[in-house]
Amino acid sequence: MADVFSPVRLGDLDLRNRIIMAPMTRDRAGPHDEPTDLMAEYYRQRASAGLIITEGTQPSPHGKGYWRTPGIHAPVQVEGWRKVADAVHGEGGLIAMQLMHVGRASVRANKAADAETIAPSAIACPDPIPGPDGVPVPPEMPRALAAHEIAGVIAEYAAAARNARAAGIDAVELHCASGYLPMQFLSSNSNQRTDAWGGSAQNRVRFVVETLSALAEAIGPGRVGFRICPGVTFNGMADADPAETYATLLKAVDGMGLAWCHLIHIPNQGFDSLDLVRSHWSGAVIENCGLTLEKANAVIAEGKADAVSFGYAFIANPDLVERFRTGAPLAKADRATFYTGHGDDARGYTDYPRAG
Ligand SMILES: Cc1cc2nc3c(=O)[nH]c(=O)nc-3n(C[C@H](O)[C@H](O)[C@H](O)COP(=O)(O)O)c2cc1C
Repeated sequence: MADVFSPVRLGDLDLRNRIIMAPMTRDRAGPHDEPTDLMAEYYRQRASAGLIITEGTQPSPHGKGYWRTPGIHAPVQVEGWRKVADAVHGEGGLIAMQLMHVGRASVRANKAADAETIAPSAIACPDPIPGPDGVPVPPEMPRALAAHEIAGVIAEYAAAARNARAAGIDAVELHCASGYLPMQFLSSNSNQRTDAWGGSAQNRVRFVVETLSALAEAIGPGRVGFRICPGVTFNGMADADPAETYATLLKAVDGMGLAWCHLIHIPNQGFDSLDLVRSHWSGAVIENCGLTLEKANAVIAEGKADAVSFGYAFIANPDLVERFRTGAPLAKADRATFYTGHGDDARGYTDYPRAG
């Protein structure tokens, strides 16, 4: 029977186990939003995962909202990511890049002076976002994208995916959760457009469908995954009917040959999002959120998920796969060093030891 240690194929990628490192923003990029040698070392240490999904990475300067997040739109960033990809491949691992455009969830002081804050509608994100000193401040009021500008935003994602591949990254994941740009289009409260990109569920899913299709066209569908969290309220999301929105989305992208649907599986009122995904999506599923080794093995054995991802556990346990194999106890991550905002800060980053 399959368990977390069994190999699995996700799209074009052959994973040596089903334990995936979940995407985690760590705010340690260099001054030009480029990955540093320290970041390469951090990912190298965790390369025994079946697949690493990187921290959210902006496809353009406009997509940045937090301090010290990396980009994939400038040559210096491509060079930095090449070091990361080489380090992971050197250990026999695989690495996908999470493409994260924050849209309205953005603090002005965290981004370049000429970068804009855009969203489907001119409605501000109600949740504060940490500024450069780590103190949360209200996000900037976004400008609503004109319909003719949307193709340009989608083209930035496609260019980012091509850059990722040029850097040696194996695949990309479109971040459609946590109240960032794609989810701002999906959710009925943040998308109040009256054109073809808003209103009905069919129209609200259009941005994600078109972006996934552009990514698939750019680098091949077998190297493109997407991440969703139906019903999450983070960053001011409040969809009137998430079950309808996500069923519409999954039906629209099923059959595109994409590599995976990565589900942040949270309790919802009225429906179970894993059942929803399984009903409308025939491709591979990565399940995430609050899993233990036992729960992960159960969900794989039942055939409900093809792979599982771990966030917190990978921060403090670079050798998580080995610890699961041997039953070694798991170390606890220190929240104070999750996001330090300093590119050279190894504390709580690369200084967690391996077991034994
Ligand atoms: C420090 C930190 C940063 C995170 N950054 C991201 C991110 O950039 N993109 C994303 O999709 N999720 C992000 N997450 C969420 C994780 O990927 C994951 O969904 C969450 O930690 C739940 O999984 P777990 O219970 O195994 O930790 C982050 C979580 C943590 C702890």
